[in-house]
Amino acid sequence: MAKVSVGKVSEIPVGTLKAAHVEGKDEIVLANVGGTIYAMRGVCNHEGGPLPEGTLEETVITCPWHGAKWDVATGKCAEFPIDLDPEPTYPVTVEGDEIYIEI
Ligand code: FES
Repeated sequence: MAKVSVGKVSEIPVGTLKAAHVEGKDEIVLANVGGTIYAMRGVCNHEGGPLPEGTLEETVITCPWHGAKWDVATGKCAEFPIDLDPEPTYPVTVEGDEIYIEI
């Protein structure tokens, strides 16, 4: 695991999502939930929907393609008609305005 800078808190208003990229890895979604930043793999494992383009309500991201709900705090699918495997989540640290994840 490496600690990688993925963006700035000031770029992610509370209640919003942002895409982050780490070389050689799938896209990551960052979520600002009440001032706490979470990081999860950002490619919905149903059919590949872009989770950074979804919507965020509390810790739940809704996939923009078919509406799967993902809990960004746990990586688990919170609601969908079929079982979906959990998405990986990544530990986040914030130093000043800088966001780092362990990946
Ligand atoms: S691709 Fe996300 S719900 Fe289908």
